[in-house]
Amino acid sequence: MRELTRIFRRYSRNFPTSGSPFYGALAERLADALEAGSELGGLFAPWADFDVAALMDDNTVLRFYGALHDLALSGDEPAFTESFPTRSRPVGDPPAAWVELQRVLVEHHDRLAAFMSHEPQTNEVRRSACLLGGFLTVAQETKQPLRVFEMGASAGLNQFWDRFHYDFGDGGAWGNPASPVRIRSDWRGAAAPFEAPLQVIERAACDRRPVRLADPLERRRLMAYLWPGQFERFDVIGPAIDAARTWGAEVEVADAPAWVAATAAPMPGAATVVYHSIFWHYMPPQSQAAARVAIEAHGAAATPDAPFAWLGMESDPTERYQTKLRLRLWPGGDERTLATVSGHGAWTEWRAALT
Ligand SMILES: C[S@@+](CC[C@H](N)C(=O)[O-])C[C@H]1O[C@@H](n2cnc3c(N)ncnc32)[C@H](O)[C@@H]1O
Repeated sequence: MRELTRIFRRYSRNFPTSGSPFYGALAERLADALEAGSELGGLFAPWADFDVAALMDDNTVLRFYGALHDLALSGDEPAFTESFPTRSRPVGDPPAAWVELQRVLVEHHDRLAAFMSHEPQTNEVRRSACLLGGFLTVAQETKQPLRVFEMGASAGLNQFWDRFHYDFGDGGAWGNPASPVRIRSDWRGAAAPFEAPLQVIERAACDRRPVRLADPLERRRLMAYLWPGQFERFDVIGPAIDAARTWGAEVEVADAPAWVAATAAPMPGAATVVYHSIFWHYMPPQSQAAARVAIEAHGAAATPDAPFAWLGMESDPTERYQTKLRLRLWPGGDERTLATVSGHGAWTEWRAALT
């Protein structure tokens, strides 16, 4: 448990600066408890042999917090729920939460352990604000309507990126002002081609394990991975879930490389766009290679009348894990970095030169 103690100490410093002082305060108490010999109800037994790197890779701590938040959101333990942050008390009540936590760890062991057996799975709607400039670039340069195919779509909320309204502050605005999904995100640097004529004529999405929005428990699971107190994320995901259910979100159960090979070939009269956000590194290297082969084969088949684009918003390990928006557009297919963006979609720093 020494490794886990170190990780909780690390999180106790990181959570407050990245948006959840409440989780930070609990992390400090959890580290103290581990140091004093507690096994936290045995919930971490499946990770007992993991070193620090493996614990981080497996998102062990985020699984744990997700399980706690899910219990709080369920309302099944009212005193525990009441200790969490609210809009009128954004820091929550960590001392009360700690008292409750020690009890629920034991009384709800099986339920929490079952939740933790699932890998964390979010669907961050504000990432659409970062992807938007890429779609507009394809529309402007090809002058074609778009067919859009999302790999690793989770609940599929971002497949409706063209129906949201975006407020970019000083960077302007884009989209339907009457949209139920309203996204606030900062725009820095040069302007994107916001005036490009845009029409989406086909949309599809896949995930190896889609979040089913029709299931209330899966909807709650999606919310549970948000951090309490991050109200700007809750404000977006709730309306996006409701809208996606109205608009008929569909996410196929599929492994992305095979799916993209089978579904996303270029087609005359439209620009076909394969896109993804914070997904690529979830695939093992052989799947990444297979996806690349499929995408490049579609690119090689593209013509001026049937262009093909690959748009990715991913963290770049070669650039200190900054998140980049990159585009390849065929015929041609040269890679360009369109923007540096925030991983959760809070801002986009658009590059002036597009090549
Ligand atoms: C971090 S989530 C990102 C979800 C969404 N793109 C977003 O930005 O909110 C990564 C998603 O990729 C999915 N995934 C990972 N490997 C996959 C694969 N080989 N095929 C399809 N989906 C995959 C996971 O199930 C998960 O839903």
